[in-house]
Amino acid sequence: MAIPERFIDELIDRCDIVDVVSRYVPLKKQGSGYVGLCPFHSEKTPSFHVQREKGFFHCFGCGAGGGVIQFVMRAENLPFPEAVAVLAKQAGLTVPEDAENTAYRRRRETLLNLQRDAARFFYATLQSPSGAEGLAYLRRRGLSDNTIRRFGLGFAPNRWDALMDAMRAKGYEKTDMLEAGLLVEGREGRVYDRFRNRVMFPILSLRGDVIGFGGRVMDDSQPKYLNSPETPVFAKGRNLFAMNLVKNERPSEILLAEGYMDVIALHQAGFRTAVASLGTALTPEQARLIKTYAENVVLVYDADAAGQKATARGIDILKSAGLNVRILRVPDGKDPDEFIRKNGADKFAQLLRGTQGDLEYRLSRLPNAADHDAPEKKIAYLKAAAELLASVDDPIERDVYLQRVAAETDTTLDALRIQVNTARKSRDRSARREETRRTLNPVRNVQPAARELRYDNPRAARAEEGLIALLFFDPTLTQRLAQEELGTLFTVPLYAKLYSLIQNRIHDGGVLTPDAFAQELSADEASQLSRILARTPVGEPDRALSDYIAVMRQEHMKNASLQALIDAKKISGGQ
Ligand code: UTP
Ligand code: MN
Repeated sequence: MAIPERFIDELIDRCDIVDVVSRYVPLKKQGSGYVGLCPFHSEKTPSFHVQREKGFFHCFGCGAGGGVIQFVMRAENLPFPEAVAVLAKQAGLTVPEDAENTAYRRRRETLLNLQRDAARFFYATLQSPSGAEGLAYLRRRGLSDNTIRRFGLGFAPNRWDALMDAMRAKGYEKTDMLEAGLLVEGREGRVYDRFRNRVMFPILSLRGDVIGFGGRVMDDSQPKYLNSPETPVFAKGRNLFAMNLVKNERPSEILLAEGYMDVIALHQAGFRTAVASLGTALTPEQARLIKTYAENVVLVYDADAAGQKATARGIDILKSAGLNVRILRVPDGKDPDEFIRKNGADKFAQLLRGTQGDLEYRLSRLPNAADHDAPEKKIAYLKAAAELLASVDDPIERDVYLQRVAAETDTTLDALRIQVNTARKSRDRSARREETRRTLNPVRNVQPAARELRYDNPRAARAEEGLIALLFFDPTLTQRLAQEELGTLFTVPLYAKLYSLIQNRIHDGGVLTPDAFAQELSADEASQLSRILARTPVGEPDRALSDYIAVMRQEHMKNASLQALIDAKKISGGQ
């Protein structure tokens, strides 16, 4: 799927990152760059920086960063080739089709055709005698023929090779079916149908392609739902069940449920803006996908403990994406599907009119919220409520809820207000302390937020990081490095990778930009690179280069002698 580097370079040349970003976020000039509110997390003060000349963005709040292509990948929720296509279109360029590119597209097409044919097979089976059991099951669960058709529900027969034979007859290879996750390979290389004796829920992309399946058993056996694995055409975290239908409804409000059956029952009952995540916890990408189509979202998760936990997590993710969140509480231990089955659509519409705002919901979930007659319970509740209210930045919203809590607990407004203000002051203080600590403590500063990128040796890491940044600022320095053989000195694997990418790039006569490695780096890795590049350049690059190399050699030596000691101990029988 490689797009020629020369083309990427030209594209980046034609795209002004400030222009591109400005379509999503208002930017203000500040110093040599631009700042604005980060589109990737929710914040009140701008920590999102864009550098036009260097062609990258970086958020000091959430750590997101990269070049212009990575920006579009994140903002539009697109894989690399598609982000390139979007930018190319805006810049009036045509993405060249090289052989590899064409092969990649063919591969995707084959997989998509296969998934579509599989969906047709399951659908036809459900309507045939061998699907009678599945059809009876779906009807028992209250689904109409219309609903079954609208969602393209199907049935996988109770055989090891039903789908395999049907797809082979259509000319597909076993390898295609394995890659699509429709077959699984057992021990001794035996392959068989993944989905057997299950009712099938096809999952469609926004464009309407079948990209995967969920399959449910008809009894109590486990697992209840089996889902397609991640494949080249199916990314669970980037898609939502039924979003292909909902996007055509021009929704002002999207209902986010937990399960396939909830969504289907909601649609059948006339609530045609319901979607669900796909057998995984909600991701920030899914939240951004919702935000592309609507401003408002209502969480309609299950009433059980797991559902409530998911609600708390969901609120944070959805708010970070800039959505207004309301919470619908399904009474007593039910999910939306069961509720509608039992009480009807009108009763659900009533619940929908009585949703809670996220603050109201959080207040109601505090310990002792429901029962605070006893003074000590009331005090505990009020303290927790004050803490929560203190986190609300909007003064009007804060005041409205402050009055409500005061009235509901029969407390004087003044007392509660003092408590909230005190809590706010101490929040401000700790925020400032954190800020100071960040700026005054460079070693901690250098530790990236991502767990998997913790440094073992901060001194070495900082030198390696400085070296990488330096090479971006002045690529001619790479010539000086030709003799140095630094490759083996790196202690941080990502920096070693970057260093070798840089060397190859320069060797091939390419240009160094933050987007140069967009195909080779993950979003996290790209963010790390942008963080490095966001450092202020040093005054004397030549001197700095020598210093960094010296540190790297020293640390390498130290480590080598340490390792020798450890080895010696092992040999002599020590631990
Ligand atoms: P639930 O267990 O709440 O099921 O799982 P449900 O949606 O109410 O299903 P019914 O009504 O019993 O048929 C919610 C969602 O979690 C995922 C599925 O996406 C399901 O819709 N899930 C659940 C799995 O992926 N695997 C499982 O084994 C169970
Ligand atoms: Mn259910």
